[in-house]
Amino acid sequence: MAKEAVELREAEVEFSVLTRALHWLRFVAIVALTITGFYIGAVFVSPSISGEPNLFLNARMRMWHEIFGFVLVAITLFKIYYFFASKHKAERLERGSFGDALSLKTWIAQLKYYLLIGKHPHLKGVYNPLQFAAYAGLYIVFSLLCLTGLILYVHVYHDGLGGALYGAMRPFEALFGGLANVRTIHHILMWVLIIFLPVHIYMVIFNSLRGKEGALDSILSGLKFKKKH
Ligand code: HEM
Repeated sequence: MAKEAVELREAEVEFSVLTRALHWLRFVAIVALTITGFYIGAVFVSPSISGEPNLFLNARMRMWHEIFGFVLVAITLFKIYYFFASKHKAERLERGSFGDALSLKTWIAQLKYYLLIGKHPHLKGVYNPLQFAAYAGLYIVFSLLCLTGLILYVHVYHDGLGGALYGAMRPFEALFGGLANVRTIHHILMWVLIIFLPVHIYMVIFNSLRGKEGALDSILSGLKFKKKH
C-alpha cells in the first residue's frame, strides 16, 4: 500500500482582530466612496418621481461621501500610527516585512515563485517584498486621496472642521496646481484603487492555492496554517 505523505501544520496568528475589523471597514468605506464618488463626478441616477419639490439626492450622496471620507481619513491615520507603534505580534510581523523588502535575494526568489519556477522564500515578516511594496504604494494612494478629498471638502463646508482646515489645505491646493487639478487627481486616484482591487484578489487567491496556508481565510479567521518543521 502506498504511503500517504502527512503534512503537519500548526495554526499561527497572522492578523489581529483590529487589523481584520479595519480591513473590512475600509472595504465598506471604499465601496461607498466609489459609488458616491462616481455620482458626484457625473450624476448617473435621478430621484424617483414624487410630490416633494426637492428630494436632495445630490446632497445625500455628498453627505455619505463625506461621512465615509472621514472614516477613511481616520483609518488611514490610525493604521500608519499603529504600524509603527503597536507591540502586538501581528504588527511586529508587519514591520518585519521591511527587512525582507530590503533583501535582493528575497525579491528574486519571490518573483521566481510568482513565475512558477521557484519555491516560496522563507520570510521574517508577514508580507513578501512585492506585497510590502504594493501596500506601501497603496498607503501613498490612500494618503493622497484623503489629502485631495480634504482640500475639496474645505471648499464645500466653510464652518466647523472645514473652516478650521481651510488655511492648512490652501498651500496643498496651490501645490497641486489649483482646485480643478485637485478634482482630477482625486478622480484618477480612485481609478488606481479600482485597478488595485482585482489584482489584490488575484494575488490572494494565487497565494492561497499555492501556499496552502489558508491565506484567503486569514483575513477573516486571523490564522495561517504553517508547515511544522
Ligand atoms: C476611496 C476613496 C475615495 C474615492 C474613490 C473618492 C472618489 C471621488 C470622486 C470620483 C469624486 C468626484 C470627482 C470628480 O469631480 O470627478 C469625489 C469628490 C469628492 N470627494 Fe472623494 N473619494 C474618496 C475619498 C475621499 C475622502 C477621504 C474625502 C475627504 C473627506 C473625500 C471628499 C470628497 C469631496 C468633498 C468631493 C466633492 C467635490 C465637489 O464638491 O466637487 N473623498 N470623490
